[in-house]
Amino acid sequence: MEFIEQLKLKASQNKKRIVLPEGLEERTLKAADVILGEGFAEIILIGNPEKVKTEAGKMGLQNIDKATVVDPENHDKLDSYTDLMVEIRKSKGLTKEDALQLIKNPLFLAVMMIKAGDADGEVAGADNATGDVLRPAFQYVKTAPGISVVSGAFIMILKDKEFGEDGMMVFADCAVHPNPTAEELAEIAVSTGQTTRAIAGFEPKIAMLSFSTKGSAKHEMVDKVVKATELAKQQAPDMKIEGELQSDAAIIPAIGQKKAPGSEIAGQANVLVFPTLETGNIAYKLVQRMGHAEAIGPILQGMAAPINDLSRGCSVSDIVNLVAITANQAAGTV
Ligand code: ACO
Repeated sequence: MEFIEQLKLKASQNKKRIVLPEGLEERTLKAADVILGEGFAEIILIGNPEKVKTEAGKMGLQNIDKATVVDPENHDKLDSYTDLMVEIRKSKGLTKEDALQLIKNPLFLAVMMIKAGDADGEVAGADNATGDVLRPAFQYVKTAPGISVVSGAFIMILKDKEFGEDGMMVFADCAVHPNPTAEELAEIAVSTGQTTRAIAGFEPKIAMLSFSTKGSAKHEMVDKVVKATELAKQQAPDMKIEGELQSDAAIIPAIGQKKAPGSEIAGQANVLVFPTLETGNIAYKLVQRMGHAEAIGPILQGMAAPINDLSRGCSVSDIVNLVAITANQAAGTV
């Protein structure tokens, strides 16, 4: 069975409520219809109920009446959500008037539904930029206990089955945090290991990537990766983590043996942790385009509740797939 089909099956065994704040967006409505038809998650759409019904009717969608539709202009939780917003952000000077303005924005309403326990996860971004999706999540849902930084992982399904776990690898951070410190990079590595176990479903062998292998180059950027590797090993002694490694030493057995003799991970890595967002984002897109790999994600990791951001160029099936991943995260696996 295909990877995504397995995730849908797991999600359908413990159905979670996923809020889609872009409830009038065409691909989102079509994706909601598919998900409700397949029945692997409950869907909450944010949007004017009449407009949702009209749009769904125009598109001939059959299952949208199974969704819960929340009108951002008229719902009975306005007071409780805005009180909660003020409580969370009063140290930042947020007033009730500010909160009443913000809550009109479906991206803020969605995170407050999660915070108040009225939804289990969110998928957005078909119609909004990454920063606009992430900021409300960072401000109100915040990071998971013990985590200070949210990052984004991609599950890469490669044509060449020699690499990773039968052609499957996990790359991070490819989506969120531009220039992590050594401490933050260590957290990203551990979060990525957890995502690998919970979503990709295999035991991580994590390579902390650099332009140096085991001291072959000296530079402060190399020092950062060496320190991050040490910290990550301390934080997750049960995970296999190795650094610093160049990418060829990480994934090609003969080169791994030569450059890092005796390493359990060099040449065998199935998780690549990049030193910066620039390297991670560039690398995943090159592998996706030039290597014709499937890139599933970004899967946001380290957030207190599952919230995932789509690319604005996403397809209906990208949305369906990310809801399947989010529902699995919400089921408590990450
Ligand atoms: N993890 C956790 N919290 C964070 C993070 C993070 N990585 N980054 C910012 N925050 C928090 C801040 O601490 C702050 O909290 P506070 O208001 O309670 O003090 C809040 O989020 C807002 O922080 P800002 O600094 O105002 O937010 P910023 O403007 O830096 O935006 C953002 C954060 C949007 C994630 C920014 O880092 C960014 O643009 N990253 C790049 C995203 C991107 O473009 N990715 C590539 C495209 S995606 C793709 O190709 C798949």
